[in-house]
Order: sequence, then structure tokens, then C-alpha cells
Amino acid sequence: MTKTTSFQGDIRPLFTERDIQGMSKAFNLANYDDVKKHAGAIYDRIRGIGGAVMPPPPPRGEGPWQQSRIELFAKWMADGFQP
Ligand code: HEM
Repeated sequence: MTKTTSFQGDIRPLFTERDIQGMSKAFNLANYDDVKKHAGAIYDRIRGIGGAVMPPPPPRGEGPWQQSRIELFAKWMADGFQP
């Protein structure tokens, strides 16, 4: 957990095409600036805080995420949102 995370290397690959399409009305999960801007709300919802857990379980999505992925997202925030 000492390696610095980046959006392109670590976070962007977490989002499936389905995730990106499913959330496109609210924000673009493929876009660094959008994910940075909404990171706090995204971090809540991937933990099921503030509403239904994201991504939704089948058949609407492939969620919820494993704890290790949630921690990776948290580390990206703690690392200062590297692009
Ligand atoms: C601020 C964070 C988020 C909010 C408030 C949010 C909210 C929502 C809402 C309201 C829906 C529609 C629910 C419905 O149709 O009943 C939805 C669908 C969905 N969301 Fe999110 N979401 C968030 C983040 C995410 C993230 C981070 C992912 C993926 C990692 C994700 C993946 C999906 C998917 C796959 C769907 C299903 C789309 C479909 O039905 O085709 N969402 N979300």
C-alpha cells in the first residue's frame, strides 16, 4: 500500500462500460475531473452509505465491490487524486 495510486493506472480500470453508461446522466466515471469532483459521494455509495450500494448487484450491475477495491479508491483520495 505504499505505491502512489493514479486515476489512469488504478481507478479508471475499476469502472466497467456498464458503470459508465449507467451513471452517465449524473457524471462520467471515465473522466478524471468528474470522478475527482464527486469522489466523496462515490466513496459513500460504493460503501452503501447515503443510498443503494453502487454498483448495484446483478442483474443491474456487478456490485458491490470487494473491500480491497474500496480501499484502493480511498487510497487514491488520500494520495491527493493523482491523475
Ligand atoms: C455519487 C455516487 C452515485 C450515485 C448517487 C448513484 C446513483 C444511482 C442511481 C440513482 C441509479 C439508478 C437506480 C435505478 O435505476 O433504480 C444508479 C444506477 C447505477 N449505478 Fe450508480 N450512483 C453512484 C455511483 C456509482 C458508481 C461509483 C458506480 C460504479 C462503480 C455506479 C454504477 C451504477 C450502475 C451499473 C447502475 C445501473 C444502471 C442501469 O440500471 O442500467 N454508480 N446509480
